[in-house]
Amino acid sequence: MIICALAINNTLSVWGYSESTKDSSVENSSSFSTDVIYQIVTDRFLDGNPGNNPQGDAFDVNNMRKYHGGDWAGIVEKLNDGYFTKMGITALWISSPVENITTIDPSNNTASYHGYWGRDFFRTNEAFGTMKDFQKMIDVAHEKDIKIVIDFVPNHTSTAELGNTIFPEDGRLYRDGKLVSGFKTDSKNIFNHESWTDFSTYENGIYHSMYGLADLNQLNPAIDSYLKESIDQWLDLGVDGIRVDAVKHMPEGWQKSWLSNIYGEHQTFIFGEWFTGSTDSDKQMEDFANKSGMSLLDFRFANAVRNTIGEKNMTMKQLYNVMDSRSSDFEEVNDQVTFIDNHDMERFMSLSENDSKAVDLAYVLLLTSNGIPTIYYGSEQYLQGESDPDNRADMPSFTTDSNAYKIIGSLAPLRKTNPALAYGTLEERWLNNDVMIFEREFAGSVVLTAVNRSQRDYDIQNLVTSLPYGEYQDVLTGIMGGESITVSKEGKVKPFKVKAGESAVWEYTKADIENPRIGNVDPMMGICGNDVTITGRGFGEKTGIVYFGEITANVQAWSDSKITVNVPNLNAGKYNLKVVSANNKESNMYKNFEVLSGKQTTVRFIVNNAETFYGSNVYLVGNVYELGNWDTSKAIGPLFNSTSTIGVYPTWFYDVNVPAGRNIEYKFVKIDTDGKVNWEGGENHKFKVPDDETAEIIVNWK
Ligand code: NOJ
Ligand code: NOJ
Ligand code: CA
Ligand code: CA
Repeated sequence: MIICALAINNTLSVWGYSESTKDSSVENSSSFSTDVIYQIVTDRFLDGNPGNNPQGDAFDVNNMRKYHGGDWAGIVEKLNDGYFTKMGITALWISSPVENITTIDPSNNTASYHGYWGRDFFRTNEAFGTMKDFQKMIDVAHEKDIKIVIDFVPNHTSTAELGNTIFPEDGRLYRDGKLVSGFKTDSKNIFNHESWTDFSTYENGIYHSMYGLADLNQLNPAIDSYLKESIDQWLDLGVDGIRVDAVKHMPEGWQKSWLSNIYGEHQTFIFGEWFTGSTDSDKQMEDFANKSGMSLLDFRFANAVRNTIGEKNMTMKQLYNVMDSRSSDFEEVNDQVTFIDNHDMERFMSLSENDSKAVDLAYVLLLTSNGIPTIYYGSEQYLQGESDPDNRADMPSFTTDSNAYKIIGSLAPLRKTNPALAYGTLEERWLNNDVMIFEREFAGSVVLTAVNRSQRDYDIQNLVTSLPYGEYQDVLTGIMGGESITVSKEGKVKPFKVKAGESAVWEYTKADIENPRIGNVDPMMGICGNDVTITGRGFGEKTGIVYFGEITANVQAWSDSKITVNVPNLNAGKYNLKVVSANNKESNMYKNFEVLSGKQTTVRFIVNNAETFYGSNVYLVGNVYELGNWDTSKAIGPLFNSTSTIGVYPTWFYDVNVPAGRNIEYKFVKIDTDGKVNWEGGENHKFKVPDDETAEIIVNWK
């Protein structure tokens, strides 16, 4: 029994039951480590019910900017005929299911077939189906052990601003049929009213609109609760994961409190879209992935594979450097979501100038690297398409004979059986500008992958591996020219050739694991009582003990590869997790689980008259963990100071997740370029955070 003294709404919560678990997909919805995701633009996949196709101007199968009829009934059809299962797919990411505008965007003569122009987040997009159809798709998917991920767009509704263009919907937002507000008639500040973002700074991208899309003001209490309650409704229907659109364009503090509230109610996996066109590390992006509580789509990985295998303007060595650097830049690289193309990029087939072999090679890399792989619908059928909307063409065929389909079908299931792919390390074993041989390893299980992107054969000598002594067949069964290899007792591979364009995968799955090994913990933040899933191997069949730091956690469910526990009643802070099996064997430490101070909400802190010298900035620090516990090295900031509708220098502001219902004390500090801290004088500022709402506080610098 555990008591969550800090929880506001359920002061006394008791857990004590235990249930049997399996490591299958849908029973494991906080953790996607062993999954392969398939991304579907719902409208372009399969029309299972012509009866729901939009009438009139919004529908035209010959126009790439209009609806084509694809729907949830079509997805059900393909779930039932085994198209996904035979490919080893265990999760579908579908277009946003919410009601979108039904009018045509006059600026580009486009219908909202893509789902990014929301109107009512409590209703379905009728072109995709009814709530009943949605529920049916979830149920059928779950019967097949396939998870459903929805796209979700809390950043904006539809386009409302572009020169003199009149938008018939004016970005209007509805709540289950009832108007909340339009953009131009927004007396309640439901939207942010800045100009278009010029993408020049992080701040500018958050509070300004993206290309005139009516930008939601998440700090407005009505929008905050709208977004919390609407996502709840979809999760209650059984949705397993959320792909959050445009996370770079919303306040991180708001997103963290939104996530924390979701994790209090649902076991779910959340990943965000932080777009970058680069292969370089990006501190802001990595901080978000490491601190916000959600994973990110790994654009860096995608760009590097595209450059190396698709356009061939990077070498394999350079690709490996990117792969290696993301392994350390992300605290949990295996939890980031990888891909080689998507609906906002040129299809890989077009990128590589119709070289289907390049597509195949890219898939081998994608499915064996670190990260949760995502297949963009149709690319397994070598679909072409340069830019939006041509990269969102109708599914050309559902043949299970394409090489890419077979490659995915042979590697995807390996993610379930060999834990090296889900949780393992990444190490280069043989590398030049054309060939990469890399190894993944976890608890004695090993996967070795070789990829030769060039037109010439290479002799591979002196290859060392962790694969144990023996002979290994190519998991791809030679589809890409691979052969078997022989490993000596010393771990040396007998010289062999990796031929032009060849790729091969060899694997060893270790059955008996001596000590428990944690591979992943999901999510990595929470408050007392939240469910946390620990996955890995060797936990044993009998219930053992899980530690958060020195404190034991209530165990809800236990199997050899998956444990569910509740976050114990702990002071806020970072904790290392450890599993001790029933026969008293200890696991590795899984570092930095973040316990928050309690149920979260978001507060906008604004300070006026905080003048600074060039180069110094204003920060916020206070008496709770979320405000750094008075430690200025953990202060929040630098605060923003360039948004006209909120605050412009010498006014500074920031949206911060803080514990709801708490009496907090805080101060602003100025920190100069040498790190010298200048505190506000006088008494601390004091504030009682609301129990269930966002708030805004404005003070003068003291
Ligand atoms: C990113 C999505 O992937 C893209 O397709 C969309 O247009 C924008 N966000 C705006 O929602
Ligand atoms: C920490 C103290 O607890 C707080 O009350 C004070 O305002 C700051 N340090 C600055 O001295
Ligand atoms: Ca239809
Ligand atoms: Ca925004």
